[in-house]
Amino acid sequence: VTTLNGRRGDVVVLVPAAGAGVRLGSGEPKALRLLGGEPLLMHAVRRLGEARCVGCLVVAAPAGYEPVVRALLASQASVGRQVIVVGGGPQRQQSVAAALAAAPAEFDIVLVHDAARALVPVSLVDDVADAVRNGHDAVVPALPVPDTIIQVDQAGGQVGSLVRSTLRAVQTPQGFRRSVLAAAHRAAAVHAAAPATAGTAATDDAGLVARLGTRVHTIPGSEAAMKITSRRDLALAEALLAQPQPVASPEA
Ligand code: C5P
Repeated sequence: VTTLNGRRGDVVVLVPAAGAGVRLGSGEPKALRLLGGEPLLMHAVRRLGEARCVGCLVVAAPAGYEPVVRALLASQASVGRQVIVVGGGPQRQQSVAAALAAAPAEFDIVLVHDAARALVPVSLVDDVADAVRNGHDAVVPALPVPDTIIQVDQAGGQVGSLVRSTLRAVQTPQGFRRSVLAAAHRAAAVHAAAPATAGTAATDDAGLVARLGTRVHTIPGSEAAMKITSRRDLALAEALLAQPQPVASPEA
């Protein structure tokens, strides 16, 4: 546990950062790839630490990289929040579960934020937390999708058509009442272990919560909160960083 100059909020943020980053090409784990000379994870952590709502961060580091990540975070004195580092799992869902298990019990509101969304606007973090505080058990930032999205079968044939105006691309941070997220992850662990549903780990946390019938509330997302997955995304993020005001506010 690293405790830095502690102004405290009432929210704990879980930061899954244990992905391999295969789509970015071989080398270091994705969260440690450099953007503007600094690891993606550090960009994300600094923005999260600047949000007034945040009291604690729990980072799920790539297995074996926990000491490296702890050293990086300790050097970032401006984080100004309690920071805990745990080892991540083989899938995102397990990394989030490991971070949730290590989150101090005093925090009733939990945000989950992908390290790969390194340029998240600080205001979006507080907006998600505010929406939970105002009574929504599950909150996601979401953007309309520009492309037409179809469902295909294993052979690549179209099996379903979806009405674009009803679709949204979901981002992080996603915010939850802690009891709701914990119940969703308990159910998900059972789901993933059952033969009929093995291999269907969710790609986000709101998806797990929705499976239990909890309504997920959406708020406007932000293009700056894009997930950095490919080399093209990294180049785009470099361009965003180079702008005079690098982080746009949501919907700016
Ligand atoms: O793989 P994907 O793009 O969905 O990853 C989203 C986030 O989840 C990234 O920040 C990545 O580091 C994290 N992740 C993780 N553990 C894994 C896989 C992904 O923490 N096993």
